[in-house]
Amino acid sequence: MSDQSKLIWFNGEIVPWEEAQIHIMSHVLHYGSGVFEGIKCYSTQNGPAIFRLDDHIKRLFESGEKYGIIIPYTVSELTKACLDIVKLNGFENCYIRPIAFYGYDTLGVHPKDCPVEVAVASFFWGAYLGEDGLVNGVNITVSPWKRLSLESFPSSTKASGQYLNSMLAVQDARKRGYDEALLLNQDGFVAEGSGQNIFIVKDNKVITNGENASILMGITRETIIQLCHDLEIDIQIM
Ligand SMILES: Cc1ncc(COP(=O)(O)O)c(C=O)c1O
Repeated sequence: MSDQSKLIWFNGEIVPWEEAQIHIMSHVLHYGSGVFEGIKCYSTQNGPAIFRLDDHIKRLFESGEKYGIIIPYTVSELTKACLDIVKLNGFENCYIRPIAFYGYDTLGVHPKDCPVEVAVASFFWGAYLGEDGLVNGVNITVSPWKRLSLESFPSSTKASGQYLNSMLAVQDARKRGYDEALLLNQDGFVAEGSGQNIFIVKDNKVITNGENASILMGITRETIIQLCHDLEIDIQIM
């Protein structure tokens, strides 16, 4: 197993990785009824630093609310869970994956009384498209799969089931020899990659799209926009 570490924060307790288990009849497994975050922790001279942790936790709660997944912990409890799990696993540089999901109660699509379970894992995850990609770039292809319509899903939530769309796109891209897929939206305009927002640089201008393009409103995207403003780089949001 590649993405593994020693400990996981699971429903308020720290448990060994192997013991963080759920029932096979959990609602999330059948219907993708979970919301999650992907957070990077970087090694710095002052020790490990988590990138915009508060904003990620805020988005987790917002994603949950959209799907009626009411997280039974406070923002500060989950923030602390992220800090604790990085420290307890002894990481300097890692990825943090908080997830909240419907557990087992009913198998009806309406989750009724399914409990909301919460976990926070951390493990090492290098550059998303490989270290080589950071230096030499990656090959991407326009996907035959369109990004989920704004009328079908709240596109700005990071929800488990929504990632079937991304999975189809990236599987197709890899099968055809590319590194990553570029999904267009229902109107045929650029939406995003299977796991990242898209920026282009043209004529000394940085260009990206906005929420109406059917994208996840990425926290990295927001930071890049802010940096462009701070550095007085021309940026256009279409
Ligand atoms: C589909 C998709 N879009 C955009 C992003 C970028 O989001 P963020 O910058 O908040 O990590 C991600 C990140 O995982 C993603 O999966």
